[in-house]
Amino acid sequence: MPASTSLSAIALIAASVLNAAPATALGSTYDLIKTYQGDTFFNDWTYYGHYDNLTNGDTIWVNRTVGDADPKLTYINSGGNAIVKVDNTSTVEYNYKRNSVRLTSNDAFEIGSVWVMDALHLPYGCSVWPAFWSTGVGATWPATGEIDTFEGVNNQAGNQMALHSDEGCTLVKDSATPFTGTANYTNCYVEANSNSGCTIIDGNSTSYGEDFAKAGGGVWVTEFAKDGISIWFYSRPDVPSAVTNANSSIDTTQLGERTAFWSPQGCDIASYFTPQELIIDITLCGDWAGQASTLASTGCPALVSPATCYTTYVLTSSNYDNAYFEIDYIKVYSTSSATNASAVSATATGTHATSTSKATETSTSATSGAGRQVSQGWLCGLAIIGALAFALL
Ligand SMILES: *[C@@H]1O[C@H](CO)[C@@H](O)[C@H](O)[C@H]1NC(C)=O
Ligand SMILES: *[C@@H]1O[C@H](CO)[C@@H](O)[C@H](O)[C@H]1NC(C)=O
Ligand SMILES: *[C@@H]1O[C@H](CO)[C@@H](O)[C@H](O)[C@H]1NC(C)=O
Ligand SMILES: *[C@@H]1O[C@H](CO)[C@@H](O)[C@H](O)[C@H]1NC(C)=O
Ligand SMILES: *[C@@H]1O[C@H](CO)[C@@H](O)[C@H](O)[C@H]1NC(C)=O
Ligand SMILES: *[C@@H]1O[C@H](CO)[C@@H](O)[C@H](O)[C@H]1NC(C)=O
Ligand SMILES: *[C@@H]1O[C@H](CO)[C@@H](O)[C@H](O)[C@H]1NC(C)=O
Repeated sequence: MPASTSLSAIALIAASVLNAAPATALGSTYDLIKTYQGDTFFNDWTYYGHYDNLTNGDTIWVNRTVGDADPKLTYINSGGNAIVKVDNTSTVEYNYKRNSVRLTSNDAFEIGSVWVMDALHLPYGCSVWPAFWSTGVGATWPATGEIDTFEGVNNQAGNQMALHSDEGCTLVKDSATPFTGTANYTNCYVEANSNSGCTIIDGNSTSYGEDFAKAGGGVWVTEFAKDGISIWFYSRPDVPSAVTNANSSIDTTQLGERTAFWSPQGCDIASYFTPQELIIDITLCGDWAGQASTLASTGCPALVSPATCYTTYVLTSSNYDNAYFEIDYIKVYSTSSATNASAVSATATGTHATSTSKATETSTSATSGAGRQVSQGWLCGLAIIGALAFALL
């Protein structure tokens, strides 16, 4: 039985008795329900098995047969960690796409869940666009809501976190629950600001790219709760024992200051987010990473016409030696044991989601390929360029 109810009740009592900051009432204890790690890491994911028709990237997201065959794009390395990578050995002929991977978890996790990713390396380099994110089941994107825990392009300075949602959900700073990231766009609605989402930028370069790897990687904790959506990022030297010792449960009141927080003051989380599936993907170029202006603002040489992101990078395998995730584990903790995506979607409680007609309109008007999956692509693109320029300063 989850301890959450009694613990938050105790926290609330403590807060009122001690007149402590309301922030202490946030958080809960969640039981471990799923571990992706070691030899079984890849067992409960669906491989996309089709070219990137979502973000116009120059990749074929391979099926498992191809991912498992030489040159392997998904495997467990000698250290026992999961590798998810772009093909960096094959020469690609002009007009063809390069192989990469997009994985979606077979399970969906209900509100009242926490997912933790411990990684040693993230994909980076010019034209590379990786993300670790989630999107809901049981409705049509964006009514499912989307939580971007990690997203980077090219040689961007640090991680960008975001929510994407239907109309009516915003990022409101709640003074009782501070966070260390820099809030940028505040409207989570996909039709605002070219669907930048409501974004929070991690100003520390250890949250992405070469600096992430040099520090020995790091850990993200994402809490999907009706009391708000929180993300904590810890560079390797800072990972707290509340995370490293969370072997059977995690207590999010013990995690310290958040890196990002979307307060329920600005967004009714339960009505804008349905049970979430996790996604790990890497595309190349495409609607965000591949724009000349993005490349130039994220640490890559300016493209000189007629060169494009594709012609400059994609054909040459050695451009992708750093285009890989190395993941120790992904763990999911929850106050609910229900994870079966089909079963969960049948009972999804996203009330806002099912009662709006806007959702359908929005997704069908998403020209580069409609649907929730588009979110990681052009939707995030344009408006973010300025934010990245900021992060690079
Ligand atoms: C996997 O993809 C390859 C390359 O497109 C294709 O030849 C093969 O039939 C696919 N296998 C399965 C099981 O879908
Ligand atoms: C970035 O994170 C590293 C690792 O925790 C830390 O040593 C450093 O002080 C941080 N830098 C800034 C500017 O916050
Ligand atoms: C949790 O597991 C890790 C790795 O196996 C171990 O080192 C640690 O002692 C465990 N912590 C607790 C509290 O059981
Ligand atoms: C390709 O990338 C891997 C890391 O994923 C690296 O170990 C290897 O040296 C790279 N180059 C070649 C030619 O395999
Ligand atoms: C998941 O739920 C669906 C719908 O209830 C059911 O048909 C299916 O058998 C379940 N799968 C597993 C693995 O439990
Ligand atoms: C992308 O391709 C897959 C596989 O053919 C298809 O099921 C899906 O509808 C396509 N999505 C878009 C947005 O075109
Ligand atoms: C947010 O984005 C806008 C537009 O791209 C940019 O001008 C601004 O500097 C950014 N603000 C912060 C705090 O990053």
